[in-house]
Amino acid sequence: MDPGTFREYDRFKTHRAQDFGMAETKILGDGVVTGSARIDGRLVFLFAHDFTVFGGSLSGAFAEKVCKIMDHAAKVGAPVIGLNDCGGARIQEGVVSLAGYADIFLRNVLQSGVVPQLSAIMGPCAGGAVYSPALTDFIFMVKGTSNMFITGPDVIKTVTYEEVSKEDLGGAVTHSTKTGVAHFAMDTEQECIDMIRALLGFIPQNNEEDPPFVATDDPSDRTDPRLNTFVPDDPTKPYDMRTLVKMVVDDGIFLEVHAHYAQNITVGFARFGGWSVGIVGNNPAFSAGCLDVDSAKKGARFVRFCDAFNIPLVTFVDVPGYLPGVAQELGGVILHGAKLLYAFAEATVPKITVITRKAYGGAYDVMSSKHIRGDISFAYPQAEIAVMGPDGAVNIVFRDELQRADDPEEARKRLEAEYRERFANPYRAAELGYIDDVIRPEETRPRIIESLGMLENKRDQNPPRKHGNIPL
Ligand code: HXC
Repeated sequence: MDPGTFREYDRFKTHRAQDFGMAETKILGDGVVTGSARIDGRLVFLFAHDFTVFGGSLSGAFAEKVCKIMDHAAKVGAPVIGLNDCGGARIQEGVVSLAGYADIFLRNVLQSGVVPQLSAIMGPCAGGAVYSPALTDFIFMVKGTSNMFITGPDVIKTVTYEEVSKEDLGGAVTHSTKTGVAHFAMDTEQECIDMIRALLGFIPQNNEEDPPFVATDDPSDRTDPRLNTFVPDDPTKPYDMRTLVKMVVDDGIFLEVHAHYAQNITVGFARFGGWSVGIVGNNPAFSAGCLDVDSAKKGARFVRFCDAFNIPLVTFVDVPGYLPGVAQELGGVILHGAKLLYAFAEATVPKITVITRKAYGGAYDVMSSKHIRGDISFAYPQAEIAVMGPDGAVNIVFRDELQRADDPEEARKRLEAEYRERFANPYRAAELGYIDDVIRPEETRPRIIESLGMLENKRDQNPPRKHGNIPL
């Protein structure tokens, strides 16, 4: 926080428990420090658990302190940052601590999409201390020191006889690579704090504000001829979408979210011409950029955050489709895959799409296509937009012809070339107006910035209803 700006609340508050010798152990402020401060001049509300007081566990008084600053934050429209280091509900307080957690959970939910809520995990966190962060927008962990679990290794060993270390069960690496619970896994606490500050720089204070504009010396009309050859013509050759993103955004700065989880999709914040945007991109460097269960969940959550906080979406598409496989089908790819489609379709922020190479099948529709209210769609000249790739399509449509051919290999090549010419290009989609323009890759940045300017005053809304029913 900015030096000298922290104002502490309720530092004389104490717990009210009487049993188990608690009446004699009252500590001013109880197990949490709460207050307001400024970060880069912008107001935030914070709480920090104090593990030295009953393991940072939550009492009724503790919950009241946290709720007070959450209520203030909602009233004045400012983010809430929680530094969590807590053993969950304070056992000695019984149902009072459970009630306290419920009071916090309710505020987490009611303030979701109203003010940004960020959770840093700074130590071992269990029980309610992980459920509250789970309801917030972003979770930051520190490698080697922070853990998140509902029940720790000791309880697990007693109940299921499984033996697992704290780190394997709920460490930063586990949650940022396997479960997706954590969005960021930092090496040190300082890096964790720095990342929180950096992220705040891209997002507004509340859902009624626009995100902060930051002027840049990076020219809006900067073209980059390297882009003309960056995406390989060969549709099977991988490249890293994050590199492409860094080539076109302001000053090459891309704050990637969930960088090590479901890497076949990349999401994060960047700026174009000073405007903050949310980037979503298929990444052919991982699993050929296919969509799957985890990438759809990751993408959907990010899209919904951006939409809730008025952050325009810029989507880079290179996707061969949803990943085929028994594990995916049995893992519920129908259910989870639909999340991303739902999220893009319901989003009313400006939506700009650039198809860099493949846009096949349902994934073409899903990835912020015009059909689901994408505002502007560009395609590179080598883009392939079709129901499926040439090899698959030829196998199905020309099966008989291939079987009858004297030289099946020659026939396959000829048919694939014909298919590519007819379907696997951007011009059929452009003819129909599904693509607004086929652009030279080098002009990606200026065309996106120009489009963001055009969309600056975009107004769109969803039909009146209590809420939709996203396939959870
Ligand atoms: C009271 C607690 C406590 C708790 C820890 N302490 N958790 N006191 N209530 N929930 C105290 C310990 O007694 C100890 O006190 C001190 O904090 C430090 O704890 P240690 O166990 O020595 O620390 P460590 O080895 O680092 O382990 C941390 C821990 C572990 C993993 C968090 O303490 C733990 O598993 N605690 C219980 C977690 C839990 O089951 N909580 C309730 C969840 S139910 P002394 O005096 O010895 O220093 C819940 C319901 C909410 O939260 C609703 C959810 C939906």
